[in-house]
Amino acid sequence: MFGCCMLLDYINDRLWFGLDRRICLTEVVASLEGPCYLYDLRHFTKRYEDFRAAFADLRHTIHYAVKANAHPIFLRRIVELGGGADVVSGGELRRALACGMPPERIIFSGVGKSEAELRLAISAGIKQINVESVGEMRRIIALAEALRRPARVAFRFNPSVDAETHPYIATGFRSHKFGIDAEAVMACLALAQQAGRWVQVVGVSLHIGSQIVDVENFAVALRNTRPLVNAMREHGFALATFDVGGGFGIYYDTGDEHRETVNFARYATVVRQGVMGMAEEVLFEPGRFLVARCGILLTRVEYVKTTPYKTFVIVNTGMHHLIRPALYQAHHRILPLVRRPMPAHTVDVVGPLCESSDFLAQGIELTDVQEGDWLAVADAGAYARSMASEYNLHPFPDERFIIE
Ligand SMILES: Cc1ncc(COP(=O)(O)O)c(C=O)c1O
Repeated sequence: MFGCCMLLDYINDRLWFGLDRRICLTEVVASLEGPCYLYDLRHFTKRYEDFRAAFADLRHTIHYAVKANAHPIFLRRIVELGGGADVVSGGELRRALACGMPPERIIFSGVGKSEAELRLAISAGIKQINVESVGEMRRIIALAEALRRPARVAFRFNPSVDAETHPYIATGFRSHKFGIDAEAVMACLALAQQAGRWVQVVGVSLHIGSQIVDVENFAVALRNTRPLVNAMREHGFALATFDVGGGFGIYYDTGDEHRETVNFARYATVVRQGVMGMAEEVLFEPGRFLVARCGILLTRVEYVKTTPYKTFVIVNTGMHHLIRPALYQAHHRILPLVRRPMPAHTVDVVGPLCESSDFLAQGIELTDVQEGDWLAVADAGAYARSMASEYNLHPFPDERFIIE
């Protein structure tokens, strides 16, 4: 299983980053003009390989969720490692193909696939389209017939699990817009039977949400899905693929990779039991778990502003480069690149945008920092650059990699 590693660690009060404490961050920022995402590709690779090893006894494919971080270097690495991609838009599909991802390793999820996006997916001959409504099923059949290209589909089932995570990233409850219920699956199956050769039903997929650390949620989802798989089998549809989705979470608050290792072993046990006998091949769509930890966001302190009420550490990045704290009240550790032997203060770390929601952390303890100091925001590999914007016309940060 996973070896334990410290990705961010102090040596003589200077912060080092990367597997085996690869680089001293004060040297990196010496050449920076603005904020910068820095990634350790070796850690990403290690996570992928550890994931594969945990399911070595199961025929499976890891379809990296491109939405977490669509940088071509990550996608090309997944191609080299033999993995696949999970895309949620035509843009992501084109990016995956451009990075050399074979179409037969791509799956396409999402509730609102447009005609143009589906046309692209069917023409490219991707592995499967995860259908999320009866309307989408009709659209796929019409397009496949018109293109004279058969489409492979799986049904994204909504298992009605109220997963314990932030409400904005829970997706598997009946009141969410995602997936379809058993009745709608049966309606889609009837349409598939009428469509004959143009649509091939290959599987069932799930994705109950993101940043889920209590693995019991996955166990319940899988239990709730088994009756559907059995019913499909009774209708003559034996599944080639069962797609477990992504969603396995990390410990942002402590950065404790050892705890994550232990929890991942639980996840692997739950999934192995839950999918037993369901399909020939099990698919996974992890995003955050592969890429979150391997990235940091480096930022410079512009000002330290003290008011009678609070101290604000004002930095040159913010919610436009890492929206998770503002959007989900997410917590990211923030570490000074140089640690001074001074007492800690309670501060808000805020960005330059004209929005009060523009913060990276509120009420955290930070050792004394001064104008011109640099900070590292931890675990910024997932849903940071991919959700970033140029709001207030700030440019996107640079992205740098530790490759080997
Ligand atoms: C359909 C689908 N698959 C996979 C993922 C990846 O989730 P995570 O990054 O939590 O593993 C998402 C993200 O929400 C998703 O919507």
